[in-house]
Amino acid sequence: MTRHAITIVGSGYVGLVTGACLAKLGHRVVCHDIDTKKISLLKRGSMPFFEPGLREIILQSVRQKRLTFESDPVTALRGSEVIFITVGTPSRKDGSVDISYVKSAAKSIAANLRGGEIIVSKSTVPIGASLLLRRSIQRTFSGHFSIVSNPEFLREGVALGAFLKADRIILGYEQQVTARVKKIMREIYAGIKAPIIETNNRTAELIKYAANVFLASHISFINSIARLCEEIGADVEVVSAALKADPRIGQRAFLSAGIGYGGLCFPKDIRALIRISQKLGYRFKFLDVVDQINKDQRKFFVQRIRMLVPKIKGKKVALLGLSFKPQTDDLRDAPSLDIIKSLLRAGAKLHVTDPVAINSTRRIFGSLLTYHRNPYDALRGAHVAAIITEWPQFTALKLEKMKKLLAEPNIVDGRNIYDPETMRHLGFRYIGIGRGYIREIFVKK
Ligand SMILES: NC(=O)c1ccc[n+]([C@@H]2O[C@H](COP(=O)([O-])OP(=O)(O)OC[C@H]3O[C@@H](n4cnc5c(N)ncnc54)[C@H](O)[C@@H]3O)[C@@H](O)[C@H]2O)c1
Repeated sequence: MTRHAITIVGSGYVGLVTGACLAKLGHRVVCHDIDTKKISLLKRGSMPFFEPGLREIILQSVRQKRLTFESDPVTALRGSEVIFITVGTPSRKDGSVDISYVKSAAKSIAANLRGGEIIVSKSTVPIGASLLLRRSIQRTFSGHFSIVSNPEFLREGVALGAFLKADRIILGYEQQVTARVKKIMREIYAGIKAPIIETNNRTAELIKYAANVFLASHISFINSIARLCEEIGADVEVVSAALKADPRIGQRAFLSAGIGYGGLCFPKDIRALIRISQKLGYRFKFLDVVDQINKDQRKFFVQRIRMLVPKIKGKKVALLGLSFKPQTDDLRDAPSLDIIKSLLRAGAKLHVTDPVAINSTRRIFGSLLTYHRNPYDALRGAHVAAIITEWPQFTALKLEKMKKLLAEPNIVDGRNIYDPETMRHLGFRYIGIGRGYIREIFVKK
């Protein structure tokens, strides 16, 4: 295998996972970031966020001298053949993409180029950003360089597997691409057995948005079916399983009804594609609806809690799960944030728990919440328990014990982790999402 000298510019979730995995594949990698605290932390062997298995593969590559961390761009970029840009591309207030971090990364890269380097754009950027990147670099550097669009599809919580066993690798080239550039890009990924789809920059950039909005739209679709299920007494979990059994839909389809999607990518990328299309004169109405349904799910969840506890002011509410999905401590655009804010406004006393996201939540809400490491402590004396994240630890809770600890046996399950029949049999007042008539719960009481 041909090994290459690689610099990663931006050592966040994507940058660190990319750097660690490329080092594991045998390349010599420098992970660079302007955040000096993050780099010192990494040099000491600590991780800036939780991702299963990441620390182990980083430490192994560091020991084998294939991976280093560097905050100085001059040192980080010296001798690099391939430079990956993995900085953030957050949403602006109007939903459009803020590419200022990409521009500042381009500036520091341009100042350190020698000629012949390949600059790989891995951040999710608006269609046409590769050209902007080229122009921005050319303001400082007049030598030869290439730009490749290589969007990332990693999934937090299972990021290493998603990278090393990728379903596909997208490489988008400039019109003037040379055979050398294509050869090097293929060599970089030679250790990963995934189909490589080679195309132009713009198509590669669009693929990333298309993939994310497609997945998000399935979640809003099944949540709409869930609403119907509650009106007609059907079970969305059975509907979803039946849909997945159709090979045209597939077992891995994103058809889990619940409080909707969150995280860094789906909400931001949907809003970005709405804006990108708008600018081009096309109103992508479909995406407006997908986004609105998702926002509604969060409000709708709080309404359910308030159905069970109408006078919520001063009442204790246990929230199980804070991160936007299991196996991560990431809270960016997590449904929990809106739910917490809404319940605080209503005067509820919130007792929260999460296997790994307590510290990141404390940084946002401080003393407004009471934090518990042990979920049973959060449940003690609560008037209602609300499941926000489908952590396996919550599925494994002892239901009888849960019932004894709660002041009232009320559960709102935003991820359908429990079986409604079992819960009712045990004497809970249980509301899932799309699990038959809701009104029956109140009739039976
Ligand atoms: N997080 C995900 O699951 C995921 C998945 C696929 C794609 N993406 C995309 O990848 C990109 C990065 O996302 P992330 O979650 O890793 O972001 P992040 O915020 O975790 O990391 C970005 C890092 O870039 C650093 N940075 C900013 N400007 C810099 C500069 N000029 N030079 C060096 N470092 C700089 C920041 O300090 C930060 O550490 C985004 O475009 C995102 O949409 C993210």
